[in-house]
Amino acid sequence: SRMPSLEACYNLMDFEAVARQVMKKTAWAYYSSGADDEITMRENHAAFHKIWFRPRILVDVEHIDMSTTMLGTKCSIPFYVTATALGKLGHPEGEVVLTKASHQHNVVQMIPTLASCSFDEILDAKQGDQVQWLQLYVNKDREITRKIVEHAEKRGCKGLFITVDAPQLGRREKDMRSKFSDPGSNVQSGGDNIDRSQGAARAISSFIDPALSWKDIPWFKSITNMPIVLKGVQCVEDVLRAVEAGCDGVVLSNHGGRQLETARSGIEVLAEVMPALRERGWEKRIEVFVDGGVRRATDIIKALCLGATGIGIGRPFLYAMSAYGLDGVDRAMQLLKDEMEMNMRLIGATSVAELNPSLIDTRGLLGG
Ligand code: FNR
Repeated sequence: SRMPSLEACYNLMDFEAVARQVMKKTAWAYYSSGADDEITMRENHAAFHKIWFRPRILVDVEHIDMSTTMLGTKCSIPFYVTATALGKLGHPEGEVVLTKASHQHNVVQMIPTLASCSFDEILDAKQGDQVQWLQLYVNKDREITRKIVEHAEKRGCKGLFITVDAPQLGRREKDMRSKFSDPGSNVQSGGDNIDRSQGAARAISSFIDPALSWKDIPWFKSITNMPIVLKGVQCVEDVLRAVEAGCDGVVLSNHGGRQLETARSGIEVLAEVMPALRERGWEKRIEVFVDGGVRRATDIIKALCLGATGIGIGRPFLYAMSAYGLDGVDRAMQLLKDEMEMNMRLIGATSVAELNPSLIDTRGLLGG
């Protein structure tokens, strides 16, 4: 078939269209699926369109500085590669491709528990002072979890992201129908007798502990010095509780619409959370990350205006990797950087610190 050239991809959606054509059906089903009717998955992106800009004119925008700090790490730009399982479904080298691209762009990579490559392969692929975080699915056998966490810290990981929105895997029916049977993964924490009849996701997730609760947070703090971030927080009450529990961050996320159907978009939750933190003077006590449906730098900028520290991007990098390998992810990141620089200029903001709520109109998101 005629595959479009890489240069013909002008935005992140273009990579998705190519990936859909070239990927194996089972792999496409696993990456692209959302829970149930995929309402939350679609809303994740659509919600950004309910926010409009209020740009400022006649600001000297010759020099734009997009750099920022996340969990104490200086990065070139406030987006990061979020954790997505099973990288080898899309590319024979798997997650290591994302590691290399992240290095080229000085972007942070979150390593998934359910990576196709081994942790050490991904950690070994790190170059220079490149920063990686670990995403954790908590095993019923806490000794397995302890070993993973201690190893990650010893190997230099700079953040522990505990996924809290997946006590049971959501029903991704596209994935279940494709009856994926060979995860091609080292499945770092799975068991041997896994049920492969219900799609890739369910096949590899039976080890996750549904009994995980707030009571476990002190234990995590006792086994690691890495900052602890809860990934998958969905309302202000739980953000406040995370502050009280001594967590260093939260990711406002619904897992890319793959878990609870009709959960709200991360960006909508962010608009609820930041005013509540500011009201209490707590906005410096916790870093608030957001992911889901981010496809344009304008989406990133809107989240920063609301007060997010960093923005996670999942599927677009998987699609770019699946379609074009390292060159694809490299171009996807460059396109985002170019979009971001231009749009900061057009908004009249020269640094991330200058992005604030007065630059956006959220009435369409919050009113009604
Ligand atoms: C994910 N996500 C995810 N999250 C997590 O904590 N552990 C995991 O293993 C995975 N695996 C995974 C696989 C695939 C194929 C996708 C698409 C997503 C969720 C991910 O970290 C993030 O929350 C969403 O991907 C963000 O939405 P977008 O950017 O994909 O729209």
